[in-house]
Amino acid sequence: MTEERFEALLQENRLFQPPESFQAQANVQSSEIYDMARADRLGFWAKQSERITWFEPWTQVLDWQPPFAQWFVGGKLNAAYNCLDRHVEGWRRNKAAIIFEGEPGDSRVLTYQDLHREVSQFANVLKSLGVHKGDRVTIYLPMIPEAAIAMLACARIGAPHSVVFGGFSAESLRDRINDAEAKVLITSDGSFRRGSVVQLKANADTALKGANSVEHVVVVKRTGIEVAMTAGRDVWYHEVMQDVSSVCPAEPMDAEDMLYILYTSGTTGKPKGVVHTTGGYMVGVASTHQMIFDIKEEDVYWCTADVGWVTGHSYIVYGPLANGSTVVMYEGSPDYPAKDRFWQVIEKYKVSILYTAPTAIRTFMKWGPKYPQSRDLSSLRLLGTVGEPINPEAWMWYYKYIGAERCPIVDTWWQTETGMIMMTPLPGVTPLKPGSCTVPFPGVEVEILDRAGQPVPKGSGGYLTVSQPWPAMLRTVYRDPDRYANTYFSNWPGIYFTGDGAKWDEEGYFWVLGRVDDVINVSGHRIGTMEVESALVDHPMVAEAACIGKNHEVKGQAVAAFVTLKEGVEVRDDLIDELKAHVAKKIGALARPDDIFFTAELPKTRSGKIMRRLLRDIAEGRALGDTTTLADASVVNSLKERYKEEG
Ligand code: WTA
Repeated sequence: MTEERFEALLQENRLFQPPESFQAQANVQSSEIYDMARADRLGFWAKQSERITWFEPWTQVLDWQPPFAQWFVGGKLNAAYNCLDRHVEGWRRNKAAIIFEGEPGDSRVLTYQDLHREVSQFANVLKSLGVHKGDRVTIYLPMIPEAAIAMLACARIGAPHSVVFGGFSAESLRDRINDAEAKVLITSDGSFRRGSVVQLKANADTALKGANSVEHVVVVKRTGIEVAMTAGRDVWYHEVMQDVSSVCPAEPMDAEDMLYILYTSGTTGKPKGVVHTTGGYMVGVASTHQMIFDIKEEDVYWCTADVGWVTGHSYIVYGPLANGSTVVMYEGSPDYPAKDRFWQVIEKYKVSILYTAPTAIRTFMKWGPKYPQSRDLSSLRLLGTVGEPINPEAWMWYYKYIGAERCPIVDTWWQTETGMIMMTPLPGVTPLKPGSCTVPFPGVEVEILDRAGQPVPKGSGGYLTVSQPWPAMLRTVYRDPDRYANTYFSNWPGIYFTGDGAKWDEEGYFWVLGRVDDVINVSGHRIGTMEVESALVDHPMVAEAACIGKNHEVKGQAVAAFVTLKEGVEVRDDLIDELKAHVAKKIGALARPDDIFFTAELPKTRSGKIMRRLLRDIAEGRALGDTTTLADASVVNSLKERYKEEG
């Protein structure tokens, strides 16, 4: 985000107080909670841990040996037990846990009892396939209930899961399976996407050529397409689930036992396996979900994220189910069969809380208000956003056309690494400013620092950091503790660096500006510039590539790539499309560059570092910044001229 845009944001002085009627019924009604948590942070989290059922109590809230944290030391619990067993013991057994809406319009409701039974059965299936406590299981599924069932079955037996988003390519899947050395892969024949079928099993088969740790593949039949089954390795979910006992005691896990690995993009080409453990994570997601989404027993809560991302892990599966909530799960895209699909789902199930992404809101804005206006959205009482900064215009549109100026909006800032929401309004307490994620959640200490590690005064900006550990924080990068320490804790010892830039205003409200490292946020999904560059250079005709994120009206950012071809390669008309397709094949469609621009040379510093800042200036048509460190200034001027002509 540019400086000018930030100045514009700071002039955003509209303030929305929580409606009195909302406040009067809210789970949190008073700002005292902030003072309490500030006065005794660990005491606050100790209190929150009472939301979780422990098989054995913990003895110490936090053991902090920077940069390594242990929370709720000595405690024993099971995440699936917390999401299921304790609910089926009481009246919630017949409450809807998951309301599933398929893209073709089929639907399915699983009560807590149903979910408990399927999870227990599938946990027994995993055991029979040789999965033991500590073994890793990769899950590559569409947004169907089996995704949640598979995750919870893993949690039940203490096998960490690694969910890989169904939109990732075979090669991305292979890298993630290999890094985790997964023993079992759970996938489906295919997935529905805008009426057509994505061949997940075929992708999985390609991935498994060169992923030798996998002994068995469980295949869920979702679309009914023909798939190849490898005898001895592959089994159908519906077949192995027959005649399986539904008795499977939940394994007592240590608070610090690994619950899951989730891969996310960093500044290098290799995704990081972010490790989350059990006790602190469950306390973090259950408490944030209950307070921020103001969850009541009768709410129908819909988070539109995919389970393949952290938002799906924390706020479709573990947080809401730990709280005994009713969760809507929708399989498809917002425009199939028509552009009112989201609003139709809300009308059908009387959704009361909607949690979605700014990129989706900007898309709806583009389509126009007639789609939401054609449906009854009066059941909504609270809205949320996550994934990227929301521009005040999109915020206002969401507020007006979806929330009917009645529903507070919780703009939640957090990350795969933080595991839980870190900055957010509390909807019955915090006055809202469109475009600001407002203030840190109680018990979370956020600071904006300058290069030297000094906190910046109100009204200015710098690097967004978290200065004290929090319960759902990542514990390490899978099998790479050095990378964990270097990536997150090397700038300022003992202080977690988020990778984001932010400012805070005179009233202490936070405004997140986006990444300051080489990570591009496309539609709320993190993509490392290096990942895309490696994919491009992998093409036989490409010599060198540099990628940047450029501002995009709907996606927030889009990938733009500057490419130099190998000596003697002729630029064919279809080469751009070919390179775009190559990136999609290597990483997944979400990384496909919007623009590819051929250039004889890339602007580099004298030490050979590509100056991405200049490329960003060029791609966005801005005046060029400082070019004095360039090895060859003429490269940039000619690039700029040509980009203007052709771009
Ligand atoms: C960005 C998603 C501004 C930010 C949960 C962060 C946001 C990255 C917001 C994490 C928000 C997320 N306002 N920016 N409300 N939420 N971000 O790991 O740059 O997929 O570092 O986790 O998204 O993305 P991730």
